[in-house]
Amino acid sequence: MNKSDPQQLIQELIGLHATQQGALLPLLHAIQDQLGFIPPDAVGEIATGLNLSRAEVHGVITYYHFFRTTAPGKHVVQICRAEACQACGADALLALAEKTLGCAVHETNAKGSVTLEPVYCLGLCASSPAMQVDDTLHARVSADRLTKILSQLEAA
Ligand code: FES
Repeated sequence: MNKSDPQQLIQELIGLHATQQGALLPLLHAIQDQLGFIPPDAVGEIATGLNLSRAEVHGVITYYHFFRTTAPGKHVVQICRAEACQACGADALLALAEKTLGCAVHETNAKGSVTLEPVYCLGLCASSPAMQVDDTLHARVSADRLTKILSQLEAA
């Protein structure tokens, strides 16, 4: 698949998923896996390719917080906001991350190095609070550890 031509890539992915039952979610995941986000101007192509309305496609993209409609920064930091992590200080970690990065959740810092996102359970509830940096999970995250991780990401 050719990531340098997003439109072609999206067409190829639509072709791969078009005959699949309930194709929309798997297709959106595949597009985001390849491009890092769902380009808003792809909504029409996706709708046509899956024989859905634009409103249906747009509704699913906006319903699931997992889907991005803008390109993420170089790294994606996801802090778990589900119950077990909240009980162990996840809100304070998120506030610290926002302050350190100078951006709110769902935003990217000014350097473009880090996008901050919430996530709802990473399967590490017994070792909360938890976070994920790109594909790497981190358990029992302290404020110090978060600060160190963020400064390494910002320096990279
Ligand atoms: S609640 Fe955070 S990992 Fe499960």
